[in-house]
Amino acid sequence: MLLTASLQRVDIALGDRSYPIQIGNGLLDSPEAWAALPPAATALIVTNTTVAPLYAARLRAALQGRFRAVHVLELPDGEVYKDWPTLNLIFDALLGHGCDRRTVLFALGGGVVGDMTGFAAASYMRGVPFVQVPTTLLAQVDSSVGGKTAINHPLGKNMIGAFYQPRLVLCDLATLATLPQRELSAGLAEVIKYGPIYDMAFFDWIEAHLDALLAREPAALAHAVKRSCEIKAEVVGQDEREGGLRAILNFGHTFGHAIESGLGYGEWLHGEAVGCGMVMAAHLSERLGGVDAAFVRRLTALIERAGLPVRGPALGAERYLELMRIDKKSEAGEIRFVVIESPGVAAVRGAPDALACEVLAQCCDP
Ligand code: NAD
Ligand code: GLY
Repeated sequence: MLLTASLQRVDIALGDRSYPIQIGNGLLDSPEAWAALPPAATALIVTNTTVAPLYAARLRAALQGRFRAVHVLELPDGEVYKDWPTLNLIFDALLGHGCDRRTVLFALGGGVVGDMTGFAAASYMRGVPFVQVPTTLLAQVDSSVGGKTAINHPLGKNMIGAFYQPRLVLCDLATLATLPQRELSAGLAEVIKYGPIYDMAFFDWIEAHLDALLAREPAALAHAVKRSCEIKAEVVGQDEREGGLRAILNFGHTFGHAIESGLGYGEWLHGEAVGCGMVMAAHLSERLGGVDAAFVRRLTALIERAGLPVRGPALGAERYLELMRIDKKSEAGEIRFVVIESPGVAAVRGAPDALACEVLAQCCDP
C-alpha cells in the first residue's frame, strides 16, 4: 500500500540528465511513480533469483498498465556473477524479446543487479532508458544513485563500466524488511561513510540512532536513506564523472576493494570490506595528520557496533599493495587514498608505501 504521507524526494541536478529519487513505503506498487518515464512498448525487469520471488510480481503488475509487454529476467545471485557472462544474459534477453531502443530496463535488487543493469542499459543499442529500484540499504543509500555502472574483472573491482544515469530511482523502504541482517550492516557502512567525508552532524545522528537503524525502525531508515541521497546528490551534482570531488565517496574503498578482490568476490560483502577499509583509511589519515587517535577510535567503534569487521584479512602487505595499485584512482602506479583532512572533510592523496604498510600491519590479522 502506498503511504503517500511518507513520500520524500531528492533531486539529482545534472541538466538534461536530472532525475528524482523517490523514497517511501510501498512505492513498488505505485503506478504514479512511473508517470515521468518516456513512453515505451516494452519493459525488462532485471532482478535475481533471491529478489524475484519477493518483489518481481508486484513490480511487474504495477508496470503492466503502462507497458504492452513486461518481461522479467532472473540473474544468478552474487558478487561473483558481476561479470561478462552474466551481463551477456541481459543482452540475450533484450534481443530475444525483440526489445527496441525505447525499451526501459528496471534494475530490481541490490547494487550488483543495479550496476549490471545500468551497464547493459548504457550499451544496448548505444543506450536505452533505465530505472533503479534498489532493494538493499546499500543500493538505496549509494549504488543506485549517481550513474556509476560496472562489472568486475578478475584483476580488479568495477574495472569495466560506464557513467550512465538512470531516469528515476525508486527506494521502497518496505523492501528492506526482508534483507538479511548481515546485508543491513553492509549497507550501514556506506551510510557511516558520509559522516567523516562530508557531514559530521549526520555522523552524530548515526551514532545516536544506530540501534534504531539496526532494528529497522522506519523513521530512522527513512532519514538515513534521505540524508545519504542528499549528500550523494550534492557531490555528484558538482562532479558527475569524478574529475575531483566525487572521489571522496570512495573513502575506505581502496583498502576495501583490495580485500574484495584479494579474498575472491563474495567472500566478504562489499559493505564489510568498505567498513574495514574505512578503519584502515582513518589510521592512514591519523598518520598524515588529518585526524587524531580519538577520532579513529570513534569511527572504529561505530563501524564495529554496526556489525562490521574492523580487522583486515591476512593477505600480506605486498599483496595489498599490488591489488591497491589496480585501483581506478591510481596514477602512474602511485596508489591514491581518500583521507580525512579534518572530521567532515576528505581529500584524495598519495601516501608512501611504507606508511600504508604500517597501517596494514596495525589493522590486519597476522
Ligand atoms: P547485492 O546486490 O549482492 O545484494 C546483497 C544480497 O541481498 C544479495 O544476495 C541480494 O540478492 C539480496 N537482496 C537484495 N534485496 C533484498 C531484499 N529486499 N530482501 C532480501 N534479500 C535481498 O549487494 P549490495 O550490497 O546491494 O551491492 C553491492 C554492490 O554494489 C557491489 O558490487 C558494489 O561494487 C556496488 N556498488 C556500486 C556503487 C555505485 O556507485 N554504482 C556504489 C556502492 C556499491
Ligand atoms: N560509490 C561511489 C560513487 O558513486 O562515486
